[in-house]
Amino acid sequence: MTKKGFIFDLDGVIVDTAKYHFLAWKKLAKGVGVDFTEIQNEQLKGVSRQKSLEKILEWGNKTLSEEEFNRLMSLKNEDYLTYVENMKEEEILPDVPKVLNFLISKEQPLALGSASKNAHTILDKVNLLEKFDAIVDGNGVKIGKPNPEVFLNAAKLLGVNPNDCIVFEDAKAGIEAANAAHMISIGIGDQSVLNEADYVFKDFTEISLDFLEDIMANKITKQTKTNLSNDK
Ligand code: BG6
Ligand code: MG
Repeated sequence: MTKKGFIFDLDGVIVDTAKYHFLAWKKLAKGVGVDFTEIQNEQLKGVSRQKSLEKILEWGNKTLSEEEFNRLMSLKNEDYLTYVENMKEEEILPDVPKVLNFLISKEQPLALGSASKNAHTILDKVNLLEKFDAIVDGNGVKIGKPNPEVFLNAAKLLGVNPNDCIVFEDAKAGIEAANAAHMISIGIGDQSVLNEADYVFKDFTEISLDFLEDIMANKITKQTKTNLSNDK
């Protein structure tokens, strides 16, 4: 069995926080007279706080002073953190602990690769902090997803070659980043959004332990691109 590096995005992959980001941005945007749809929101997933606000303002054709821009970013984060504060272990997405524990039992190195600056707080809230051998978050990356930096840093910290890494992502930008890093990209969510991923599953309940074994046994590679989700 080869040692692989398994890299997990956080928001929308490990915990159900993508909905909180959406709610907080919606409220913030409304305050400056901008509205956006759930489809547009897909473009905010995986993207840094700053880039997200830039996009929202662009959609609404708004420009703000630097001071006001920074104030709104803080405001959004304060609102977002009110949701995070009340988070419990129950908000870990289905079968995530099962997958993490299985990989740990196989002595596979695990990393977090997230754009969020709140990653530590969230992992601590849901008691998952100690599962990861390395954490790369929004505080440790210069260029955000779709740039591969976050995942390449994670691979380096794990001491695993990028070609031997597997990324779980719910964001289009994250799948692009994983592909740019030449890692196996596994989309968690909607096939129509994540169509550039090597494999797509609705959630972790669709991922069998055999599939993970096959990855470790090199039976599943980036080249054998199929959509297992659709084969069912
Ligand atoms: C990503 C989310 O994980 O983190 C984005 O998908 C979010 O929606 C980004 O903007 C930054 O998060 P935070 O917590 O630092 O504002
Ligand atoms: Mg995400």
